[in-house]
Amino acid sequence: MTVQVPGDGVTFVNTFTLSASPAEFEAAFARTSQYMARQPGFIEHTLVRHTKDPGRYVNLARWRDAGSLQRAVARPEFLEHAAALRALASSDPQLYTPLRTVRPAPAEDGPVVVVTGGGTGIGRATAHAFAEQGARVLVVGRTPESLTGTAEGYDSIRTAVADLTTEGAAEEVVAEALRVFGRIDVLVNNAAVALHGTLADHSRKHDETQIATNLLAPIALTRAALESLEASGGTVVNVSTSGSLGLRTWPGASVYGASKVALDFLTRTWAVELAPRGIRVVGLAPGVVDSGIGVRMGMSQEQYAGFLAEMGSRAPAGRVGTPAEIGWWITQLARDEAGYANGVVVPVDGGLSLT
Ligand SMILES: NC(=O)c1ccc[n+]([C@@H]2O[C@H](COP(=O)([O-])OP(=O)(O)OC[C@H]3O[C@@H](n4cnc5c(N)ncnc54)[C@H](OP(=O)(O)O)[C@@H]3O)[C@@H](O)[C@H]2O)c1
Repeated sequence: MTVQVPGDGVTFVNTFTLSASPAEFEAAFARTSQYMARQPGFIEHTLVRHTKDPGRYVNLARWRDAGSLQRAVARPEFLEHAAALRALASSDPQLYTPLRTVRPAPAEDGPVVVVTGGGTGIGRATAHAFAEQGARVLVVGRTPESLTGTAEGYDSIRTAVADLTTEGAAEEVVAEALRVFGRIDVLVNNAAVALHGTLADHSRKHDETQIATNLLAPIALTRAALESLEASGGTVVNVSTSGSLGLRTWPGASVYGASKVALDFLTRTWAVELAPRGIRVVGLAPGVVDSGIGVRMGMSQEQYAGFLAEMGSRAPAGRVGTPAEIGWWITQLARDEAGYANGVVVPVDGGLSLT
């Protein structure tokens, strides 16, 4: 396991003067942002509207380096987004290197949160949401670059590179959290792999990878963190999926779905088993979220975009979710004010699991 500290990155600044309605422009910009958020090296996007003139906007996009931004804007999918924005606004793009960034110092007594799979997607958004609410966060994953991307610009986020399927990794992660922050208040078991395919398509290796990552790793990490969680009166949040809630079936993802059903069983049982030790255990079941997981699991950009469009149209909300929406719910479930919720797995899926 290695530990990294955040660097500076570059900031891309655009001013936009609209030739269409703000609503149309903001919708097109949101689609572009979702594309950008899936690209390696992306840190964050902020769109600022002029307080008096609704036709003027500034876009601030932070990237790990100029090369990452250049690769993202060279992809064919971006050209479509750029054309859509050009039809709605004229823009003046510039690239800057930051001289100084000022953020509030992290609270030295803020709660400490461990987020597995914190380098990408929902885990990254969850780490940012916790950090913005004053928590200190250790993000865990196998890829140093993505973890660094999460920590960029956040003094309160530290990284730990670990393959959670390996023996001893859970204990090392807990030891690292205690070394860096001295306590653990919240453990978010978010890391997972989703290897889609029918029973016949998959080998024992595929099954073992999914069970080891999605089930054995949360078991090992929660066990390793028990004493720390007991000392803080802490909370475990297990990230499930709304696709396997209730008596649903999931042809083409049976082992992935089974790993999440089993995780939900652990959530309920641990809630009862660990209540006497003052530890609360809850689950969060996202619906389909535009986190880039499909591409990381082997789909092409086009296939993933088609999948998201199809699933978004099936959800009563009429769209897929964003990682930030899921991250916000995870932070809320971990709050003291949510303390009367225990052993429950909360679907946040735009109503998809009701259809
Ligand atoms: N996106 C969705 O539509 C959706 C829907 C329902 C539920 N979920 C659940 O939400 C959670 C987050 O998914 P996501 O969409 O954000 O996907 P993601 O970006 O692919 O996140 C998975 C994370 O797990 C990490 N990881 C995988 N294997 C690991 C290992 N052996 N050790 C340590 N870290 C490991 C990955 O990082 P490295 O590869 O760098 O290790 C990655 O950061 C998962 O539990 C997923 O099942 C997602």
